[in-house]
Amino acid sequence: MTSEEPGQGKRSHDAVAHQERTKQEASIKRNPHPDFKSVESSRPAWSENSSWQFTQTREPNWTWRQGGNDGGASLQKSHIEIDPYAEGRPPVYNYKLLISGITPRPIGFISTISKDGSSPNLAPFSYTNVVCHDPPIFTVGFAGGLDRAKDTLGNLIDTGECVLNMISEHFVEAANATSVNSPYGVSEWDLTGLHPAPSARVRPARVKESIFATECKLVEVKEFESRATPGKKTGTLAILEGVNFWVREDAINEERNLIDPAVLRPVSRLGGITYGRVTEGFELLRPDYEKLRASGPLADAPVSKPHSTRQMDKL
Ligand SMILES: Cc1cc2nc3c(=O)[nH]c(=O)nc-3n(C[C@H](O)[C@H](O)[C@H](O)COP(=O)(O)O)c2cc1C
Repeated sequence: MTSEEPGQGKRSHDAVAHQERTKQEASIKRNPHPDFKSVESSRPAWSENSSWQFTQTREPNWTWRQGGNDGGASLQKSHIEIDPYAEGRPPVYNYKLLISGITPRPIGFISTISKDGSSPNLAPFSYTNVVCHDPPIFTVGFAGGLDRAKDTLGNLIDTGECVLNMISEHFVEAANATSVNSPYGVSEWDLTGLHPAPSARVRPARVKESIFATECKLVEVKEFESRATPGKKTGTLAILEGVNFWVREDAINEERNLIDPAVLRPVSRLGGITYGRVTEGFELLRPDYEKLRASGPLADAPVSKPHSTRQMDKL
């Protein structure tokens, strides 16, 4: 949402920001298909049968020092070196490269509200991750600087609060639809039919459809400057602290410390306009160096140094 209405929580460059974002969006050429609907209808229908299951790992007999599990096939391929700022390479290429290569990304579906409480906002952000659990800390990356802040970021800065909802398969179309570039004051909740549920410790509502939502307070904001256009702020990092969790009752275990992926059915972001489903998982044990030395597979590996020495070595 962007504000063009004076006196209604408008931030200074909203109209300009909106125009610039529309221009930028056109330059991204996000839709790879001239006729999206006909391409979509040529594809197999969504499969409800792909119920979540565990499989074995690709190579259950993998052994220490084996390397990859493809028999060395990947080693036969060469790499292409890309200078992010090579002559003639537009910065939007780096955007497309990064969002298609750093995948799958979790999607933070962020609910905020304007300072005067009149304008709720909801939008997805896949530059999102958890980076600490004690305290629960999340990072979210916003395209653009503070002078052209998206409404989510503007509200976050104005109020210091948001709810970070996770997206599941059962409302993915509605979640995607909230990214519409609607004008300020048009509620994405109304447009998409998603349902607000009251939060306990922050003002913005959580998404009732969401299986896992975290009420958050803003900790810190850092802007980044473009290397292509020095002086221009092109990205903003928001650091959030989670202060309250909500988990749907059928998704959480008795100890309230594990969310069932079969119920969560998380959706991730791949490149371009592609989303990913998570329909299979596999488990791998966390290796223990000392046990592996003692039991054989790493018997010839170096002896561990005492913890303090190792730390000093690293300095
Ligand atoms: C799946 C998905 C992920 C997105 N991730 C981001 C992101 O990480 N950062 C960003 O600035 N915009 C991202 N966007 C675009 C915003 O959702 C979009 O600009 C939205 O209109 C912002 O809404 P607001 O101005 O109401 O905050 C994403 C869009 C989609 C569909």
